[in-house]
Amino acid sequence: MMVDQYLRTTAMTLADLDAVVAAEAVLHASPWTRGQFADSLASGHDALLAYDSSNAWVGYGVVMIAVDEADLLNISVLPAFQRQGVGAAFLQHLMARAKARQATRMLLEVRATNQAALTLYSSQGFIEIGRRRGYYSAHEQREDAIVMARDL
Ligand SMILES: CC(C)(COP(=O)(O)OP(=O)(O)OC[C@H]1O[C@@H](n2cnc3c(N)ncnc32)[C@H](O)[C@@H]1OP(=O)(O)O)[C@@H](O)C(=O)NCCC(=O)NCCS
Repeated sequence: MMVDQYLRTTAMTLADLDAVVAAEAVLHASPWTRGQFADSLASGHDALLAYDSSNAWVGYGVVMIAVDEADLLNISVLPAFQRQGVGAAFLQHLMARAKARQATRMLLEVRATNQAALTLYSSQGFIEIGRRRGYYSAHEQREDAIVMARDL
């Protein structure tokens, strides 16, 4: 679906955190706390809200850029807007911004069971470069993280 050109982003601010934290609780098995988002903002990470062409809020994401390497810390599409190409368009947007800030590679970690995210990342050119055994805890169980990367 060709939504790239319609996706608009704005910088996430502290005023957005009520909405972001509420969405995060619905979307993630181990949701970030308000403090983690606030730390990201204070650290100057590229934290964005995404909107579609009718100005509906569709998602949010956080990228940390350290010299030439970008870490995708969070990408989330609100339930009503999933499976419409928003995740792919938003990820492309985040990669372009990281590249513009001189990053040459993007890295990410994803739960081994997060099929939606794994498929999205593979379709966007990310390849598995490693695994962290038992990195996540979910429902008392440890779960592997798959580390993926792609050049920008
Ligand atoms: C992962 C996520 C961001 C994908 O967003 P999205 O807008 O639905 O993604 P897209 O519509 O761009 O999908 C791109 C491709 O990813 C794959 N995909 C997306 N959701 C999927 C699902 N539920 N099951 C299987 N594949 C899926 C598909 O290949 C899809 O292409 P297709 O619809 O043409 O088959 C979204 O599911 C999400 O926010 N999940 C919860 C938060 C999360 O896990 N974030 C990632 C870890 S931080």
